[in-house]
Amino acid sequence: MIEINTSRAKQFLSEDRFSQAYKQAEKAFELVQQRNGEGTEWLGWRDLLADPNDAILEQIDSLATNIREQADVFIVCGIGGSYLGARAVIEALGSFFGNDGPEIIFAGHHMSGKYLKDLIGYLDKPNKEGEPKSVFVNVISKSGTTLETALSFRVLRKWMTEQFPEDVDDRIICTTSKEGGALNELIDQHGYKKFIIPDDVGGRFSVLTPVGLFPIAVAGIDIRTLFYEAVSKYEELEEDAEQIIDYAATKYALFDDGKTLDVLTTFEPQLEALGGWLQQLLGESEGKQGKGMFPATATYSTDLHSIGQFIQQGTRNMMETFITVKSEEKSITIEELPENNDGLNYLSGKTFHEINTQAFRGTLQAHTDGDVPSIVVSLDKLNAQHIGEFIYFYELLTAVYCYCLGVNPFNQPGVEDYKREMYQLLGKH
Ligand code: PA5
Repeated sequence: MIEINTSRAKQFLSEDRFSQAYKQAEKAFELVQQRNGEGTEWLGWRDLLADPNDAILEQIDSLATNIREQADVFIVCGIGGSYLGARAVIEALGSFFGNDGPEIIFAGHHMSGKYLKDLIGYLDKPNKEGEPKSVFVNVISKSGTTLETALSFRVLRKWMTEQFPEDVDDRIICTTSKEGGALNELIDQHGYKKFIIPDDVGGRFSVLTPVGLFPIAVAGIDIRTLFYEAVSKYEELEEDAEQIIDYAATKYALFDDGKTLDVLTTFEPQLEALGGWLQQLLGESEGKQGKGMFPATATYSTDLHSIGQFIQQGTRNMMETFITVKSEEKSITIEELPENNDGLNYLSGKTFHEINTQAFRGTLQAHTDGDVPSIVVSLDKLNAQHIGEFIYFYELLTAVYCYCLGVNPFNQPGVEDYKREMYQLLGKH
């Protein structure tokens, strides 16, 4: 279960401002539910939970199990919404070091030639048994034309073809739109296996489609629990949307009150990538028409020793969103040392998680005293169930909050501007 506490944000808002924002958020939720808002042709991320297709989960699971048995390395080649969700879930639920199953490596999310050269150098090295590494590639691009992904895939495809002349076409799996785009042409030529991204689901809302679910399943995570918990959250919020309306109203009222920055933060380093997913979901959805709060990310307590100073005492234009986890399965208990020569015996008997929780509480109080309104989101535990719930919660929150702002949550016209300039410089015809 996830809990949302908005009290430390509301204490900075007048009753009048909040109640106006609340009415706006109620209407915004209705726009989503009744499909009357801008961009309703992109609401497929809700439909796939309203009417789950278990056959697709079955296909994903069966191919993923096969690959887990054969692969040393599984490369996910995609950018933006085509990789951030998978990375977020895999990092949140995996181990920091030496996960079971294939090593998952991300590529295609920038244009660093050094990265690809280093990656190929690494792939060329034998596995632990001294054998050539067994590699599979999942290229993910809804448009099938995104330059970062397409270029990286071109290089990886060449390496794969040389390395696996016998069965290269079985080692490449494409996730793309039903029709169109260069990727579909390659699929037709080579017979690569293909997963479809539904037309009505945009990249940043696609983690619960094969875009996210396939790499997540290859990482050994239970995609059924993840998916069906999102379904349960969908059903719960359709019945009673108070949790979403209250959150969207609070965030919108803070924006209306002049806040221009939302620092998305966590005390759990394994949630850093989840912060990146949320940053894209909010940023690409709300940042339009001169509106929105810039979603920054921070990981505490690491960043308390850097930008923590700014958050405490710098320009007062920000709010903060804390993503916390109530209990931790693995932790270390501090042992008492007879000599107490580091002076830390006052902490003996406590776990790192307990100490981290006090660091969170102390920070929350200090930042409140420093006039930073905050929303606290608590997950009971880090598992597929709570992350599934979290994903749908934030997808819906994003849509409702963007309608409060009066922007279309589902397009990204600004992203096209850099592409146009870049293609002109590169001489694309
Ligand atoms: O959210 C979005 O729509 C974007 O971030 C896209 O996911 C990103 O630009 C990648 O696009 P594509 O999957 O077409 O390569």
